[in-house]
Amino acid sequence: MGKKILITGGLGLLGKPLVSFLRKKKNSIYVLDKSKNKKKNKLINKNGISFVYGNFQNKKLLKKIIKKKRINIIFHTGAITQVLESLKNPYVTYKNNIMGTINILECIREIDPSILFIYSSSDKAYGEIKKKNYLEGDNLNSVYPYDLSKTCSDLICQSYGKVYNLRVAIVRCGNLYGPGDFNKNRIIPETIISAIKNKRLQIRSSGKLVRDYLYVDDAVRAYYMIMDKMIHNNKKKIFIYNVGSKDNLSVIKLVRLILSLMKKNNLKPNILNKSKQELKFQKLNDNKIRRELGWRQKFSLTTGLRKTIDWYKKNHSFFKG
Ligand SMILES: NC(=O)c1ccc[n+]([C@@H]2O[C@H](COP(=O)([O-])OP(=O)(O)OC[C@H]3O[C@@H](n4cnc5c(N)ncnc54)[C@H](O)[C@@H]3O)[C@@H](O)[C@H]2O)c1
Repeated sequence: MGKKILITGGLGLLGKPLVSFLRKKKNSIYVLDKSKNKKKNKLINKNGISFVYGNFQNKKLLKKIIKKKRINIIFHTGAITQVLESLKNPYVTYKNNIMGTINILECIREIDPSILFIYSSSDKAYGEIKKKNYLEGDNLNSVYPYDLSKTCSDLICQSYGKVYNLRVAIVRCGNLYGPGDFNKNRIIPETIISAIKNKRLQIRSSGKLVRDYLYVDDAVRAYYMIMDKMIHNNKKKIFIYNVGSKDNLSVIKLVRLILSLMKKNNLKPNILNKSKQELKFQKLNDNKIRRELGWRQKFSLTTGLRKTIDWYKKNHSFFKG
């Protein structure tokens, strides 16, 4: 039988395809997002999906939705996600990302502790660990505001599982990319948009930062498999999974690959080496999700980038100016 699912941040890069995927599986979907961006809103097929334009920091609103719609499952993908924005506004980031998460957990605790809660944590929650790759059992040890907001919320979710018996899943993905990302300052959209405009890209970092890059549809499948596991294993309280990628590379290599796929090799990027407050190396070990759930990365970096580039070419009018 279909579930009643609430998705926060349903207009984000991850939220949009997650909403469509869950809808196709015949669930009833309720989206809570505060973005009134008309372009973002246009991109989602609203058939069979209920939208609430509101803030998950508003507990009264959350309670109303969860009770009235008899929600069984909550995916909490909504967050302030921009590393530089968080560096400038740590208070706002902590309040939104940490207190917002607590708000939802509290609603579940008060209304019905059997509601499943699936939290979008991140590889950034680990901070920088000096080892080849990160395992789910490693300590979370971050420093910068966005990263720390993820670490704190991740630990708080675990605490609600241990102390109040809530059923929580924590999903730690590497860097996601794909169609419909409106965060123009992320390296993949920024490179593509500047190449479409025939402009040289200004890379803020040294270009040497290394990350896992995962196409968003691969992440959506991982979220779905984790939800399914929670439904079928109703004894376990806490589920934690890394979702990594075979494609682990530096910013400069990634940028060169995008430019070559777009046949814009002439637009040599300019490395500013200005932003120093970022993690240098991240690599997730995702053996656990592959072993336990049979998850596999289906999209290679080249295939995923081609799809993403096509989307930005078709929708470049969204990013004029
Ligand atoms: N994109 C990545 O590379 C990546 C990697 C690992 C983890 N994550 C995590 O996955 C989740 C989704 O990431 P994304 O890339 O889709 O983000 P995004 O920035 O594209 O979307 C986030 C959405 O959350 C909404 N939102 C923020 N605060 C809100 C609030 N208080 N109330 C209601 N809506 C609010 C925004 O309006 C936005 O539509 C985030 O929690 C992020 O930390 C992202």
